[in-house]
Amino acid sequence: LPGAEVLVVSNREPYIHNRQGDEIVVQRPASGLVSALEPIMRACGGTWVAHGSGSADRETVDANGRIRVPEGTPAYTLRRVWISDAEQDGYYYGFANEGLWPLCHIVFVRPSFRADDWRAYREINQRFADAVVAESRTEDPVVLVQDYHFALVPKMIRQQLPKATIIAFWHIPWPNAETFSICPWRREIIEGMLGSTIFGFHTQFHCNNFVECVDRFVESRIDREVQAVSLGGHETRIRAYPISIEWPPSALGSVPARDKCRADVLKDFGLAAGTKLIVGIERFDYTKGIPDRMKAIDALLTRDPSWKGRLAFIQVAAPTRSKLDTYSSLQSEAKSLADAINTRHRDGQAPIHLVARHYESTDVFKLFRAADVCGVSSLHDGMNLVAKEFVSSRDDNAGVLVLSSFTGASRELSEALIVNPYDTEELAAAIKRAMTMPLEEQVERMKLMRQQVRENNVYRWAGTMLVDAARSRTRERILG
Ligand code: G6P
Repeated sequence: LPGAEVLVVSNREPYIHNRQGDEIVVQRPASGLVSALEPIMRACGGTWVAHGSGSADRETVDANGRIRVPEGTPAYTLRRVWISDAEQDGYYYGFANEGLWPLCHIVFVRPSFRADDWRAYREINQRFADAVVAESRTEDPVVLVQDYHFALVPKMIRQQLPKATIIAFWHIPWPNAETFSICPWRREIIEGMLGSTIFGFHTQFHCNNFVECVDRFVESRIDREVQAVSLGGHETRIRAYPISIEWPPSALGSVPARDKCRADVLKDFGLAAGTKLIVGIERFDYTKGIPDRMKAIDALLTRDPSWKGRLAFIQVAAPTRSKLDTYSSLQSEAKSLADAINTRHRDGQAPIHLVARHYESTDVFKLFRAADVCGVSSLHDGMNLVAKEFVSSRDDNAGVLVLSSFTGASRELSEALIVNPYDTEELAAAIKRAMTMPLEEQVERMKLMRQQVRENNVYRWAGTMLVDAARSRTRERILG
């Protein structure tokens, strides 16, 4: 897309400025979306429009809400949009996270739909669309609209910039039509999304679900041959673009080799040499299957007590959306579960180490390198980049990935031990198998997975979308 202006719009910002006493500290959020898009923006520049959520965000921007990032080596502009607490309750906590999040992740948490939340969602979508239009210096920019916070933004931008190339991406799963039909504003949501030039999902399965919803709820023309939907004279292509990570991850450069990582982690957690390390790292979210993983450790130790004192499961879970009951109760459930399992199975050392805080990426990679096993047991997940990050950190070609079949990643990383996290016995058996897997087999599996992630890295994800966008720009120019 030579010469085209690139704008990204997402709810979560890539750099959060927070005030801690007299100091301002910059935090990187725990977000798969941000970790995927940040390297792209560093590479191609442009403007990223996002919610200014940090306590010192207003102090660090210019009069137009702009700041160049990253600090020290500025590569692009971050334009912050302000949202009041009441608006945040309706748009973010309410509609996005109590409505769309459980609606799209089928984990049997009932979605809540309230008219006030919907109103706030619409208003905030309009505010972000207007910010994109205000930031755009040309009449035909390339706009990358991110995620379920902004389903209405593509149409809102299209109304003001009809020539824009809008590539939208949904970072979470898309449910089947029967499930989606419970959303009272299903038609408005789909029509909002269809303002884009291309709409991307992680897997073909999610694309098919989406097209099925279009068919059921919107008066449009569907061309199944090329997976395109025409509505009001505008065509949107629906495509699968499996998201990925940068290769090699930039944070890996400052992480020590495996032996040092392992020694440090054993020391930090007070664990005996020779302990088998199982790690899980994610946001403290009910979609991630954190209690399910603990229950599997419990089952394993009950069935096979000889593992007592010989394994440690380190679960790092960054508290997130804690204002919502479903999230705060998950945190207390997981803590009491960990305590109960530790009381039952402690033998010199505790089996479960629950760390409820955010880890910066170098510490995440350190834990990955130290681990014997990485456990990803999401009950449902669009892609899951933790699985790919674990693989990227293992340049020693060792370590085993236990991966839920309900992640997009399981379609690509088929050499992992693929499990159903709802089946505690199966998960326990997979963890045991992972801990005892011969090194040769670990290496064989890991090499294939590394090749897969190296080739299908995040530059390919973005590159494929941009090539498709360039093609559609040319097509529109030629056909008029
Ligand atoms: C998921 C969503 C992202 C979101 C991230 C973190 O990965 O797809 O859009 O940024 O979770 O959640 P949060 O609500 O803290 O931004």
